[in-house]
Amino acid sequence: MSAIAASSISCKAPQVAVIGAGKVGSTLAQRITERNLANVVLLDIVDGLPQGLALDLYEAQGLERHDKTVLGTNSYDDTVGSDIIVITAGLPRKPGMSRDDLLYTNAKIVVHAAKEAIARNPHAILIVVTNPLDVMTYLAWQATGLPKSRVMGMGGVLDSSRLRTFIAMELGVTTGDIATLVLGGHGDLMVPITRYCTVSGVPITELMDASAIERIVERTKNGGAEIVKLLKTGSAFYAPASSVCYMVESIILNQSRLLPAAVYLDGQYGLNDIFLGVPCQLGCDGVSRVVEVELSAAELAKLQGSAAAVKEGIEKAIAKTQL
Ligand code: NAI
Ligand code: 2OP
Repeated sequence: MSAIAASSISCKAPQVAVIGAGKVGSTLAQRITERNLANVVLLDIVDGLPQGLALDLYEAQGLERHDKTVLGTNSYDDTVGSDIIVITAGLPRKPGMSRDDLLYTNAKIVVHAAKEAIARNPHAILIVVTNPLDVMTYLAWQATGLPKSRVMGMGGVLDSSRLRTFIAMELGVTTGDIATLVLGGHGDLMVPITRYCTVSGVPITELMDASAIERIVERTKNGGAEIVKLLKTGSAFYAPASSVCYMVESIILNQSRLLPAAVYLDGQYGLNDIFLGVPCQLGCDGVSRVVEVELSAAELAKLQGSAAAVKEGIEKAIAKTQL
């Protein structure tokens, strides 16, 4: 009998490990499976939490008409076989806790999670979500030793989406026609570039006056805080989960989408040895291209100011926690 060549079609569905089964992590698991993108392994330190959420999500499979599975676990061994690792584990800021306290606590959690997950999945792509985002992304990259193209942070997709929403509200147009760009760190010093924001190709500077643009920019910068104030406990998670899912989709489907993410810079925008939000292309190998758009002197100065704050956070975290 002659040998029959094996099919080249992969029988294995993509797998995403989501570390941290809180609001963002569990909503992300829902988004990924309901879009039929990948099987999900949901991991948390709290016993029973990821197991309960995963079972609940799995029980919706037939109703949501997808065929992806969700496994809840407290063990990194169950993440083996993951193509993408998303880290959402961490503490939110609590009363009496300074930004620096949060920085040190989350740094330890993120470094531990990244090391454990990548030790079992050395070929995976790593997406960091935990705040302070740009600092955590740098620490995760450093701790794992992964190539820079396989490590990124989610911040810019969310910030750009918020800006898009506020433009839509102001102009009464659909968000689908709007393109926006927010650069810099995911924090108070983010840099919305309104010159690059358009509605069906028309720059927003042609559609609204400077004061309206300024108001929308300020709202975008405070987008996270606005939700925290309304919720009173916890922070945003629907739009953040959608933002991560957008990146996961671009990787799994190799769409090479151009989107803003915290990626490693070695010279672009005059910045070195830092993860910061800039436009990049995301495909099946991770970051395939970092895009350097032309900025005015004022925009570049703001981006560099944002970078300086991120660098300070990295230095503090490394010095204090000896990571
Ligand atoms: P959450 O408090 O609902 O969930 C965090 C989860 O992490 C909890 O279930 C907790 O048990 C788990 N956890 C803590 N330590 C752990 C460890 N060592 N190993 C595994 N799991 C651990 O918080 P939420 O709302 O899901 O946010 C998660 C993080 O994402 C926060 O740092 C938040 O600031 C950040 N965030 C970032 C965004 C961005 O645009 N980059 C947007 C939204 C949230
Ligand atoms: C946000 O922007 C908390 O980073 C989170 O909503």
